[in-house]
Amino acid sequence: MAIQAHGGRLVHRLVQGLEREELLREAMSLPAIRIDRWTISDLDLIAVGGFSPLIGFMEEADYRSVVDRMRLANGTVWSLPITLPLEESEAEGLALGDRVALVGAEDGVLYAILELRSLYRGAVQEEAQKVFRTADEAHPGVRKLYARPALYAGGPVWVIHRKKPEAFTAFYQDPEETRSLFEERGWKTIVGFQTRNPVHRAHEYIQKSALEIVDGLFLNPLVGETKADDIPADVRMKSYLVLLKHYYPRDRVQLSVFPAAMRYAGPREAIFHALVRKNYGCTHFIVGRDHAGVGDYYGTYEAQEIFRSFTPEELGITPLFFEHSFYCKTCGNMASSKTCPHDSNHHLTLSGTKVRALLRDGECPPPEFTRPEVAQVLIEGIREPEKASEAVPSVREAVL
Ligand code: ADX
Repeated sequence: MAIQAHGGRLVHRLVQGLEREELLREAMSLPAIRIDRWTISDLDLIAVGGFSPLIGFMEEADYRSVVDRMRLANGTVWSLPITLPLEESEAEGLALGDRVALVGAEDGVLYAILELRSLYRGAVQEEAQKVFRTADEAHPGVRKLYARPALYAGGPVWVIHRKKPEAFTAFYQDPEETRSLFEERGWKTIVGFQTRNPVHRAHEYIQKSALEIVDGLFLNPLVGETKADDIPADVRMKSYLVLLKHYYPRDRVQLSVFPAAMRYAGPREAIFHALVRKNYGCTHFIVGRDHAGVGDYYGTYEAQEIFRSFTPEELGITPLFFEHSFYCKTCGNMASSKTCPHDSNHHLTLSGTKVRALLRDGECPPPEFTRPEVAQVLIEGIREPEKASEAVPSVREAVL
């Protein structure tokens, strides 16, 4: 039997058929809140149960409780606020119990109806400090938080419209679908892997180490909003596809995109990433070095340590922790301090900055760091961004 969704039941908030038509009619006379891409991606994950047990945007009691103690008001573990910010002007005249249309700020599309159960001011500084462990505006997650209005609307949603993916349509699977896929493949244990980067040898090493003990790998790269200097999702997708083609057993990996926005909340986001992957049907989740971290805001293993705050039962998904991994020239293989006796002089270490500089100059990093096929894709992506995205469908055909 598949693993239970977080909170016990996979949420479904998409409306269809007659109900949808009625809501579309109703929405025409409702006041509107304009929502940005970030909120649209949250909404979509609520709709398909990725954020189970959430059935809407957080009401004040849940928000306070999540910020303070990483639990919803009813005690269920949840580490990140999922809020709906709105402008003061949009809140004017709204009363609790009202129904409100959620409309795309960029495209004017009606995405959902929200029943307003809570209208409250976020404690933004405190939220930053507790969620991101810093109030520093230079932190990309904190900057984003400060840039959004601090007035939040909470309540359940009924989702009418989903944003169509612009690319990689074949790789969008909802939690219900991934759960069926895992079952069809006969996988009982599935390890989820979150990434916002191309897969380098260290990632490959920890994924394959995990694959030695579970039935399947759910490679689930995040393709929602990321900070500008992260590698664009289309280039990354192409790199995953060539890597899988050449170096992974086809029948042991499911590649699906994770449409969420990146928060860069380090430890708290690691918990969130794990719970959401449980909703997709994973039994295990990889947490390596500085998971979801940025700059030096978090200690190397803080994202692992935070798991100790909860019992295995209340998490319901087993984290698999990995030490910082590297290639050891003397061992002649990938390793970590758990398996390699040599000091760092023996290890191949390259900073992100150095790797980017090499790729920009059209040079491949050493194959012990990045597979040459992956490096090639990244070089092309840097040099000719349009070409890289065009190439995605053909690569997909070659792989599938
Ligand atoms: S993340 O922001 O999505 O976490 P990234 O794509 O770099 O960033 O990492 C994906 C996963 O691989 C995370 O669990 C991270 O901790 C892990 N990881 C990345 N690099 C290493 C490494 N050298 N050794 C061990 N784990 C790593």
